[in-house]
Amino acid sequence: MLILAIETSCDETSIAILKDGKEVLSNIVSSQIEIHKEFGGVVPELASRHHIKNISAIMEEALETAKISMEEIDYIAVTYAPGLIGALLVGISFAKGLAYSYKKPLIPVHHIKGHIYSNFIENKIQLPAITLVVSGGHTNIVYIDENHKFTNLGGTLDDAIGESYDKVARVLGLGYPGGPVVDKLSKEGNPKAIQFKEANVGEYDFSFSGLKTAVINFVNNKRMKEEEINIPDLTASFQEAAVNVLVKKAIKAAVEKKCKTILIAGGVAANSELRKRLFEAGKEKEIEVFYPKMEFCTDNAAMIAAAAYYKLKYSEESIFADLNLNGKATLSIEED
Ligand code: KG4
Ligand code: ZN
Repeated sequence: MLILAIETSCDETSIAILKDGKEVLSNIVSSQIEIHKEFGGVVPELASRHHIKNISAIMEEALETAKISMEEIDYIAVTYAPGLIGALLVGISFAKGLAYSYKKPLIPVHHIKGHIYSNFIENKIQLPAITLVVSGGHTNIVYIDENHKFTNLGGTLDDAIGESYDKVARVLGLGYPGGPVVDKLSKEGNPKAIQFKEANVGEYDFSFSGLKTAVINFVNNKRMKEEEINIPDLTASFQEAAVNVLVKKAIKAAVEKKCKTILIAGGVAANSELRKRLFEAGKEKEIEVFYPKMEFCTDNAAMIAAAAYYKLKYSEESIFADLNLNGKATLSIEED
C-alpha cells in the first residue's frame, strides 16, 4: 500500500511516500528555520507563503525520489490539526486538490499522532505502550492500547517543554530554535550547579512556566548585579529539572499501566539527555524505550503517512469524516 502524505502545520513543508507503513520511499523536508530565525520564532504569515511557494516542487521531488507516479498512490494523507491555521490550509488545500483530481481517498491526520507513529516506522512496537509527547506545542503522557486506542493521561498546564527550551535560549540570546543549542551547551555544564524546584501538579501533568520564570529571574538578577553567568551550568541545571520530571512521570505511567514499552515523540525527542536518562530508567524497570530516528523527530511527512497507515488499519470511525470530499471538493487558488 502506497501512502503519499503532506505536512505543513508549522515551518516545515514536507511530502513523503511510505510503503506498507514501514518503508520510506521518500521524505522530502524543506525547513524554513533560516527564514524565521531573524524574528526569534515562527512568523505565521511568512510560513504560509513559503509553503505555497515550495509545495509543488517538493511534491515533484517526493515522487521522483520514490520513483512512483501519482497514479500508483493508493491514499493521500494530510495533517489537519493542530498547527498554524494558514500553514495547515496550504497543505489541506493541496491535498484536496490532488485527491480530487487523481480520485484518491484522503486521510486527515492529527499532527501529534504523526509524531507518535514516527516510532513505528522502523521499529517493531509492542503495545500497550506509554508515549511521552514532547514537542514545541505539546507535553503529554498518552496510553496506547493493543487496538491503537489513545488515552491522554495528562499534559502540561501551561508551557510545552519545547517552548521552555526556546524561551530559555531566547533570554540567553542563543537564537531560535533553542532546543538543539541548549542540548549542546548543557553537555559542558554542571547540572547540579543551580537547584530548580519541581512544580507541584497532578500525577501525570506538567508545568514548565515556573521553571522558565526561575531561569529568567536568575538571569535578570545576575545581569542587575553585573555578575557573569555560566551559561552551560545554567542550561544544564534547567535541563536537569525538565528531564527529571519527564522521565519520572513517564516511568510511573508505564509501571502503573503495566506497559513494557515507552515511546518518545516530538521535536524534543531529539534531546540527548532525555533519550539517555529515559533509556537508563527504563532498563532498571525492564521497560523498552523507543525514540524515532533523528530525521523523524522534528516535523516531517513520513510520520504523517505512518499515522495514516495505522488509522486505516485500526480506526472504526470513517477515515474521511473530518475532510469529506464526496466528489465535491472545490478549490481555487489565485496566483499573483
Ligand atoms: O515537534 P516539533 O518539530 O514541532 C512541533 O510540533 O512543535 O518540535 C519543535 C521543538 C522546538 O521547541 C525545539 O526547540 C525542540 O523541539 N527541539 C529540542 C531539540 N531539538 C528540537 N529540544 C531539546 N533538545 C533538542 N535536541
Ligand atoms: Zn511537530
